[in-house]
Amino acid sequence: MKTSIKDFLINHGAQRPVSFHMPGHKGSDFYKENGYGEFLNNIMDCDITEIPGADNLFQAEDIILETMEKYRKLYETRKSYLLVNGSSGGILASILTAVSKGGKLVMARNCHKSAFNALSLGDITPVYAFPETVEGYGILGKVSPEEIARCFDENPEAEAVILPSPNYYGICSDIKAIAEEVHKRGKILIVDQAHGAHLKFFDEEGFPKAAEELGADLVINSIHKTLGSFTQTAVLNVCSDAVDLATLEDKLQVVESSSPSYPLMATLDINADIMLEKGKELMNNWAENIKWFYEAAETIEGLVLMRRPELDPTKLNIDMSAYGFDGNQLEEYFMEKGIFIELVAGNVVMCMTGIGNKRCDFECLIDALKELASAHKKVETSKTEQPQALTKRLQWKGVPSKKELISINDAAGRVCAMSIIPYPPGIPIACPGEVLDEEVLEYVKKRKLAQEKVIGMTGNFEIYVGRE
Ligand SMILES: Cc1ncc(COP(=O)(O)O)c(C=O)c1O
Repeated sequence: MKTSIKDFLINHGAQRPVSFHMPGHKGSDFYKENGYGEFLNNIMDCDITEIPGADNLFQAEDIILETMEKYRKLYETRKSYLLVNGSSGGILASILTAVSKGGKLVMARNCHKSAFNALSLGDITPVYAFPETVEGYGILGKVSPEEIARCFDENPEAEAVILPSPNYYGICSDIKAIAEEVHKRGKILIVDQAHGAHLKFFDEEGFPKAAEELGADLVINSIHKTLGSFTQTAVLNVCSDAVDLATLEDKLQVVESSSPSYPLMATLDINADIMLEKGKELMNNWAENIKWFYEAAETIEGLVLMRRPELDPTKLNIDMSAYGFDGNQLEEYFMEKGIFIELVAGNVVMCMTGIGNKRCDFECLIDALKELASAHKKVETSKTEQPQALTKRLQWKGVPSKKELISINDAAGRVCAMSIIPYPPGIPIACPGEVLDEEVLEYVKKRKLAQEKVIGMTGNFEIYVGRE
């Protein structure tokens, strides 16, 4: 049935869904219960522009600077910048600051698309660092310090490194060891911590440390993904003197809107106040709920819950294939129970918890899993297909300036002009500038024929390649 954005949102909210997806606040209760309900009542009147007294995001001297100072204190940084187009903007600005036009960047091959977009904006050549695959899950894991060293040994002129940590599934790389490799060569380390804005605030054992504490120079945090601000808000932390602030500030105003939303910035301010005043209590509750969930999950036979030392446990990677449910079927089952999840990858469903989740959300999830286990018989487990082709090193030819749409059957040997991204796991299998080969094309064709989503390929099996 056709609906509108507004009606969809109102209907969805009215069903009081359980959210295990972004954003981290999980709905209005979070502000109401922490003393900011009045802001929600007045949000429309907060939608102003740079009137006198309202300061300016791109030359912050007053109230915006005050919020920046709160984040500087919270993350213990040299300087913290508010972002209004998500971590995406911070990633673009960081790369364009750290790498000269036409220069080289060491980047994890599983970077977010914003890092790939920076390549074309800055005419930058990537040197790919390949992440390891998580055994048995078919998802991408850590990037090793040795892999970063290899990239620099082969490309000593590369100026900086960017990698996601935690990655989408919550897997963190050894940032301390990577920072050592990067800094002994006098280069800059950018950590895309979009999924780990909360890590700085956990005191408990069992949570990876934040990149701000491990030697990264620039760290980008999507506050909206796991903490208490609205979608699109993020914070860019500068942690060392190696970064030229004037260049960074210039790049930030290049990539962001000249009309930054005051309601969005206000939610960054609210989140900072909540973290400063009640952060400890809220993080303790969150950690306790996570602990409770992992313990309760152990009692459910057949449930496989990913646990690894490098995993941020706030990401619940759940596998119920023991009962014949692949990830998509499990997602559907959860939806029938009013539970909405973040991501499916093969047999794994990733439930993304946030600061706004309450104990009852975790209980709901456990109840749904228990019910599934008691209502179904165990079957022979089908292992998630290892997406081998994803770790393949394709030849790099440079991002084409002109593109054309052609059949995938004619694309071998041509240069990819638009990322091809199979879901799961949502990481480009071919990026602009890479030379497509038979194996990769065959792989995406198979995925599409299996009715899976392949972003960047039309329903007619056509893709964009460089025009020759
Ligand atoms: C690893 C990673 N980095 C960066 C981003 C971009 O973050 P934002 O949505 O805040 O722009 C995402 C988005 O999901 C992501 O998954």
